[in-house]
Amino acid sequence: MARHLITSALPYINGIKHLGNMVGSMLPADVYSRYLRQRGHEVLYICATDEHGTPAELAAKEQGLPVDEFCAQAHDAQKAVYDGFALAFDYFGRSSSEQNVEITQHFARRLNENGFIEERAIRQVYSPTDGRFLPDRYVEGTCPHCGYDKARGDQCENCTRVLDPTDLINPRSAISGSTDLEVRETKHLFLLQSKLQHEVEEWVAAHEEEWPQLAASIARKWLNEGLHDRAITRDLDWGVPVPSDTWPELAAEGKVFYVWFDAPIEYIGATKEWSDAARDTDPENRDWKSWWYDVDADVRYTEFMAKDNVPFHTVMFPATELGVREPWKKVDYVKAFNWLTYYGGKFSTSQKRGVFTDQALDILPADYWRYFLIANAPESDDSSFTWEHFTATVNKDLADTLGNFVNRVLSFSKKRFGEEVPAGGEPGEAEAKLGEEIARLLAEYESQMEALQFRKAAAALRALWSAGNSYLEEKAPWLEIKTDKDGAALTLRTAMNLIHLYAVVSEPFIPATSAAMRQAFALKDDTATWITADEARTLTALTPGIPFTVPPVLFAKLTDEDLETYKERFGGGPTA
Ligand code: MF3
Ligand code: ZN
Repeated sequence: MARHLITSALPYINGIKHLGNMVGSMLPADVYSRYLRQRGHEVLYICATDEHGTPAELAAKEQGLPVDEFCAQAHDAQKAVYDGFALAFDYFGRSSSEQNVEITQHFARRLNENGFIEERAIRQVYSPTDGRFLPDRYVEGTCPHCGYDKARGDQCENCTRVLDPTDLINPRSAISGSTDLEVRETKHLFLLQSKLQHEVEEWVAAHEEEWPQLAASIARKWLNEGLHDRAITRDLDWGVPVPSDTWPELAAEGKVFYVWFDAPIEYIGATKEWSDAARDTDPENRDWKSWWYDVDADVRYTEFMAKDNVPFHTVMFPATELGVREPWKKVDYVKAFNWLTYYGGKFSTSQKRGVFTDQALDILPADYWRYFLIANAPESDDSSFTWEHFTATVNKDLADTLGNFVNRVLSFSKKRFGEEVPAGGEPGEAEAKLGEEIARLLAEYESQMEALQFRKAAAALRALWSAGNSYLEEKAPWLEIKTDKDGAALTLRTAMNLIHLYAVVSEPFIPATSAAMRQAFALKDDTATWITADEARTLTALTPGIPFTVPPVLFAKLTDEDLETYKERFGGGPTA
């Protein structure tokens, strides 16, 4: 059985992320990791903050903090939100770590030895108004390909094409807005990606068939446009320094690597951070290299990201890894997402539009968001967040279908039979039919999870919950009890077995609620992390006499008033 290495795109350090960011990277990676762990796989889920580059410098300046202090605080603030979302990283690192500096510099030296790095004098945008060279993303202007007028110098957000600042029409400084820009000469390191085009093409060709269409088509488009040599250093104070043993002159000038050069390497760096941190407490822990170096098919590596990140992960980082000429693990499966929109418009960190992850947790517990977001993940297309859709989904799926089922069954049984799983009755036709249906839906859920089809997996989970409701409506134990007490006991016991099954299989989506459901039963020696098809069919794991408690309401029903409050606070539309 292969070990699973899982990473989600590293959230940029400059601010708390919005829900669109969460649903396109960390949350599905967490759901998938949790599922695989439950199924008994060895999993390592790694993420980190992406800390270098100009936006970090500027955010620090805005807060009047040295950039290293700013990053340390901002890292902890993001980590706290992710803990709130119950993201079960094995390690959440920092791209500014010494481990990442070391590995990034190693990669650069190897690329240089192998002839894939060249020093070139370039002409770069300088802004006299701002008193500095402007890094790519701090030059804004009109995209020459699609005409979008807020394109950044590194990439057009609208058409996802990668740009050079000098490609922009009507360029301006994103810091001051100044259009008084000069071009000055300065030396930088270039990664000769053009020399790697052929190898990357072969590598993509060997993988793209397995990738989802979104990832494969973006990789193809990028390759068809041709790999260009790109500057991988910048004139900034904050970043991985160019190593002075190899490039003394550039190092003396204080050049650092471009943030997109060191960020993906941090997937490896953070694994080393994890391994170093675990050394004292867990000496048996696998070494970081056993996940990354010379492992081939022993490790299955899955990456999660939104579509704007796909070129960097399917082409640029693999090119770097190939050029290093050492057997570093390359991605096996790229799970890419479209955009989650806010009422059809863009979620925007800079324009503070939409719902931020910390605000979301202020309003409601993580499980409400986790379920809604994954059930509506922008997988095959963009999907739109609206408060109407959110409240309706919470009420229908979580409060009515799941929560109400659990409370109804346990409260009624407690009232009529006391606080133990009731005895009596023999499973009959209704139970056999239910068992077949549950086993079928469980198999559907498993196969969708394994295919990383999250919306479809959520639909199968919802269908499992619904099947319990249909059974309960059909058997109507509150009527049954008047004429057939044993029959009612059987119905309730079977329903309790469904609750136990829900507790297990809902865990990847709603871990806190799953724990509450499971804790309702004082089950001794129940270490089952998953349900077998047989158990699903018989629904008899919980036997008569096992004590239970009625948990507090699992999901609060959201009212029209709640809906109005949310819309007022966050705006009911994209331009609000
Ligand atoms: N910080 C980048 C973003 O938010 C993603 C970096 S993913 C990386 O778009 F790991 F490759 F760095
Ligand atoms: Zn464009």
